[in-house]
Amino acid sequence: MRYFIFIITMILASCSTQKEESNEVNLYSQRHYSVDELQYKNFTEKTGIKVNVVKANADELIERLKNEGENSPADLFVTVDAGKLYNARESGVLQKIPSEAINKNIREDILDADSYWAPITYRSRIIVYSNDRVNESELSTYEDLANSKWKNRILVRSSSNAYNQALMSSLVANLGSETTEKWSSAVVSNFARDPKGSDRDQVKAIAAGQGDLAIVNSYYIGLLLASEKEEEINAGNSVSVFFPNQGEGDRGSHINISALGLTKNSPNRKNAIKLIEYLTSEEAQKVYVNNSYEYPANSLVQPSDIVRGWGEFKIDKLNLNALGEYRPEAIKIFDKTGWK
Ligand code: FE2
Repeated sequence: MRYFIFIITMILASCSTQKEESNEVNLYSQRHYSVDELQYKNFTEKTGIKVNVVKANADELIERLKNEGENSPADLFVTVDAGKLYNARESGVLQKIPSEAINKNIREDILDADSYWAPITYRSRIIVYSNDRVNESELSTYEDLANSKWKNRILVRSSSNAYNQALMSSLVANLGSETTEKWSSAVVSNFARDPKGSDRDQVKAIAAGQGDLAIVNSYYIGLLLASEKEEEINAGNSVSVFFPNQGEGDRGSHINISALGLTKNSPNRKNAIKLIEYLTSEEAQKVYVNNSYEYPANSLVQPSDIVRGWGEFKIDKLNLNALGEYRPEAIKIFDKTGWK
């Protein structure tokens, strides 16, 4: 009899856990890299948990989370910008991530002090320069891009892009509005052409001789060099990587994170936490670095060979939430200074 009761209890216990937990996790993602599908496939093979992804831009996803409220199917908000996570948090659509879900090997300097998001990778917004027309010794800081020696030589995408907005926010936070506005005016007057295209397009424009410097996210250089298209490999090889603001006592190069925010009403919270744990594990971090050429959030993992070849660099230790906090001011400066 005792044995019988034990079996019944076991059956009931397994039924109730099955009812509570679905076998799915739902992502609202701003990321646009093919490595993500590979990561989710690996996670499903390991855990049996299916990963459903809705892709859109970050502002649209935040709007959707707000509108859906308690009925939202989303568990995780995935972005490539701490600024958007700051906005999501301010909009009340996130909850704190329990500390055990955040891998203890994540670099401390890229963590959210308030635990509203968990970083999976980071990237720097760097300067790349023409191997033919620029000498590395001519480069130093973001601030120096205002120097008239760069007249008609700087290539960069439009100010509507979140990567540029994050960089401008970091300058406002570090230098103040007034200095940043002067800087922006001078940089605009140094543009080789009106801003257009993607980060990759700026590098291609250097290869085509349309400008000499470009401001781009670091991983795009890795992606160009690892491309199967000859035009892209040639573009990647026409430039070198420069990390600005590395001088002694200087703040370091601007970085941003790609990160996961746990939604306030996450219906599959346990699965979401499992996915956070998996994506920050050594195993998954190796997959990121070798496919997207981003920097690993987990300090036990090395960047890819291509990225390691650029050497180590000092990162700007600015609180990454400042990239959201100073965003409205950054956008004003873009508008005022004619950065299209
Ligand atoms: Fe990107």
